[in-house]
Amino acid sequence: MLSNDRAPGDLDVDDLFSIRGKCALVTGGGSGIGWMIANGYARAGARVYIASRKRAELDARIAELGEAGDCRAIEADLSSEAGCNALGDELERREPKLHILVNNAGANWGAPFAEYPESAWDRVLDVNVKAVFALTRRLTPMLERAACDDDPARVVNVGSVDGINVPALQTWAYGASKAAVHHLTRMLARELAARRITVNAVAPGPFQSRMMRSTLERLGDRVAELVPLGRIGRPDDMAGVAIFLASRAGAFVDAALIPVDGGITGTR
Ligand SMILES: NC(=O)c1ccc[n+]([C@@H]2O[C@H](COP(=O)([O-])OP(=O)(O)OC[C@H]3O[C@@H](n4cnc5c(N)ncnc54)[C@H](OP(=O)(O)O)[C@@H]3O)[C@@H](O)[C@H]2O)c1
Repeated sequence: MLSNDRAPGDLDVDDLFSIRGKCALVTGGGSGIGWMIANGYARAGARVYIASRKRAELDARIAELGEAGDCRAIEADLSSEAGCNALGDELERREPKLHILVNNAGANWGAPFAEYPESAWDRVLDVNVKAVFALTRRLTPMLERAACDDDPARVVNVGSVDGINVPALQTWAYGASKAAVHHLTRMLARELAARRITVNAVAPGPFQSRMMRSTLERLGDRVAELVPLGRIGRPDDMAGVAIFLASRAGAFVDAALIPVDGGITGTR
């Protein structure tokens, strides 16, 4: 198909950015950036599943959302392929198809070069990279069932500015894992485009979260000063780009890496 038959005068902007009625899964959706995205999706009218290890945290988020949206929890440990498949199995028991998968769950570990432990490499790469591949593969049939030419199913991977720039801290496995996520995004995009599934990555700069708590407490305003726009990211910043990528407005964006970083990576 060379073009679609919509004339510019037919443009319905609300519909273009709508994700109402779509089904989404956000891994690590009970905290930080995952919840910024899940909360945004639920308030925009999607049915959202959040999955991670801590059931109590997931339930607390859902209680917080209350009647403002439809959000459900699935307990999952994504550090192994078996854990990813178990999450896929549980989701498939509950839903016939999946429109949006957000691979957000992540782990970090910092230690000096001379002391960096092997266990940190395993822990970080298992969740940050292996799970992105394993869960996307497990859920591909469900994504395919939701996909069509006009409105593909979407995979959104959460990378990091630390996968683009050399990280300021001694987070050896983390920086390498996030560069891997960016590259894996493009590889998956090539594999899945023919099935009408797009795969994109966002690369956040600093956002308030559990992972960032101690850094932000220790370095405070200095973190914001390193951002050209002079502040850290807000929940709306992350929800906005995630909704765009999941809506029909983002239907022709594929294999892209979108920094959401106030200009950090683009200006150096
Ligand atoms: N905050 C930032 O400034 C920033 C910047 C760039 C990129 N990121 C990326 O954003 C994503 C979210 O991180 P965050 O900053 O929001 O930190 P966070 O609040 O610590 O979130 C990490 C999430 O991942 C989940 N998770 C970790 N290990 C898991 C496992 N084995 N199985 C299932 N879920 C697991 C955690 O839930 P449980 O512990 O309950 O399992 C938690 O919900 C990560 O990929 C991170 O690399 C964050």
